[in-house]
Amino acid sequence: MGKDVIIALDFDSREAALAFLDRFAGEPEKPFVKIGMELYYAEGPAIVREIKARGHKIFLDLKLHDIPNTVKKAMAVLSRLDVDMVNLHAAGTRAMMEAALEGAARPDGCRPLVIAVTQLTSTSQERMEADLLIEQPLDQVVLHYARCAAQTGLAGVVCSPLEAGKVHQACGADFVTVTPGVRFADGDAGDQVRVTTPARAKELGSDYIVVGRPITQAADPVAAYRRCVSEFV
Ligand code: C5P
Repeated sequence: MGKDVIIALDFDSREAALAFLDRFAGEPEKPFVKIGMELYYAEGPAIVREIKARGHKIFLDLKLHDIPNTVKKAMAVLSRLDVDMVNLHAAGTRAMMEAALEGAARPDGCRPLVIAVTQLTSTSQERMEADLLIEQPLDQVVLHYARCAAQTGLAGVVCSPLEAGKVHQACGADFVTVTPGVRFADGDAGDQVRVTTPARAKELGSDYIVVGRPITQAADPVAAYRRCVSEFV
């Protein structure tokens, strides 16, 4: 599995996102980027096509969660945007994940990497028990959801770098771990609680790190990106 750094393009307009990407024009290889709800809902599928046409790989982070038939049809539409990675909530059940895989298949038989969100990192043990009536330990719930995703045929999960090793143990070395919550040793954690450096994420076995503000808000984003790549890849 090729390791890579994915930049979270958390911008609210086409102009802001493209002005940011223009800084990378001189890079030999265009960075892999993540388009989330904010940019997608602001600009729609056109922004995905435009960034793809500039030569970037794209992780479309829309976290689908609906009845299987709806997710299948939505995945078919998203897959046609020629994105490289898409995701959904494992909580939608195996039937929903199977339907998503069917929908994501393109006419030539290939499909983007379909990965699952297990429990959001914003969900605590306490809230999971009180609000979701799930009473197992949170780390066991994460591993159970990862196993369900792997057994259904999904390519991997979004998780903390701290969980990447256990996910690989449970689901195999080829099951992809995509991990946010990355910060430089000398940087600001912001609202992320459990953070690791790119170098530590590599040691822990992450396959892809998702890095937003440490690159997008840096005085020199290209230098910050290069630093991530040199520590992680
Ligand atoms: O700016 P920062 O590096 O914290 O950005 C992390 C990105 O990863 C954001 O787009 C955030 O929504 C996303 N993410 C996360 N934690 C998760 C899932 C996604 O931080 N569990």
